[in-house]
Amino acid sequence: MKTLFMLLLFCHVSSTVKHSLKYFLTATSGVSNLPEFVGLALVDEVQVGYCDSNIKTVELKQDWMRDFMKDYPKHMEWYIQMCFSEQQSFRANIVDLKQRLNQTEGAHILQSMDSCEWNDETGEVFGFHQYGYDGEDFIALDLQTLTWNALRQQAFTTKLRWDADKDRLEYNKYYLLHECPDWLKKYLHYGRSFLQRTELPSVSLLQKTPSSPVSCHATGFYPDRAMMYWRKDGEEHHEDVDHGEILPNHDGSFQISVDLNLSSVAPEDWRRYDCVFHLSGVEDHIVTKLDKAQIRTNWVSPSEFPAGGVTGVVVALLLLLVLCITGLFIWRKNNNGFRPANRVKCP
Ligand SMILES: *[C@@H]1O[C@H](CO)[C@@H](O)[C@H](O)[C@H]1NC(C)=O
Ligand SMILES: *[C@@H]1O[C@H](CO)[C@@H](O)[C@H](O)[C@H]1NC(C)=O
Repeated sequence: MKTLFMLLLFCHVSSTVKHSLKYFLTATSGVSNLPEFVGLALVDEVQVGYCDSNIKTVELKQDWMRDFMKDYPKHMEWYIQMCFSEQQSFRANIVDLKQRLNQTEGAHILQSMDSCEWNDETGEVFGFHQYGYDGEDFIALDLQTLTWNALRQQAFTTKLRWDADKDRLEYNKYYLLHECPDWLKKYLHYGRSFLQRTELPSVSLLQKTPSSPVSCHATGFYPDRAMMYWRKDGEEHHEDVDHGEILPNHDGSFQISVDLNLSSVAPEDWRRYDCVFHLSGVEDHIVTKLDKAQIRTNWVSPSEFPAGGVTGVVVALLLLLVLCITGLFIWRKNNNGFRPANRVKCP
């Protein structure tokens, strides 16, 4: 287990030469408080663009991307057009799928992830284009055979129809393996000082209730190549530890949590533990001693539960619900396909 974990970390660290441009497109039907269509663009996991069916334009999220578009105004027009045409095509696809799957009512969600990756050492380029429907993998483009793979039975009709559209297949291939990496290289040039910076996080110890695991939480670091672990008596400790994934913050920085279950540790032994954060390429480690006095919590014992508490809980639950719904929009790539990331632990 430990070996596997370290292996994963090193794979992650060794990927510094890989760059990516990703698009996440999401269309919903029957969800009233969200735009019907939302598009996101990410460079090296940093959000650079946003569009939705309400604003009807593309918002740039980074100054260097704004500088870029000033120099390439036609490219900005292309994005605005793409946002609009994808919106039409997603809407048509959702109508078609609902009809074909006999779904007359309820909320439905169609998502796609397109990405190209470029290795700046070997020059290798890799493309990826896949759709999900109602939170499950649906259909994926196979760039080797230039056909669509139905990832579940209901996608088979779509596969046959899309396989017949050779122009679109050829365009997808050209886009993913040529155009996309070319633009990515240009974006990276404008964003290099931003994307090559390092930022250390603030680290805190958090605990939900006195019997919950203690979470060592680092937020605000950049880039997303970091290690965090617990130590006992100065040695790496992996027992009763739950490693979270590195997740993006809205400002382009990242966060991670590593939980330590202390239920079988005597209070006097707590001081033997500390939590270590290490950012790739930065020599210093941030060490946080496990000290009860430093743990931050929102917990109030039931006897001192405030009168306004119930409203607070309802508001918090609503907030969590909204976060859970929006959390669906971000997919993370796995070894075999990709699924919605657990940005927020949903009840
Ligand atoms: C859709 O519903 C109709 C009528 O209820 C039924 O005949 C048909 O088999 C259903 N199709 C699917 C794919 O479930
Ligand atoms: C913590 O560990 C105890 C005993 O080892 C176990 O019963 C409990 O479920 C664990 N808590 C969590 C949140 O994993």
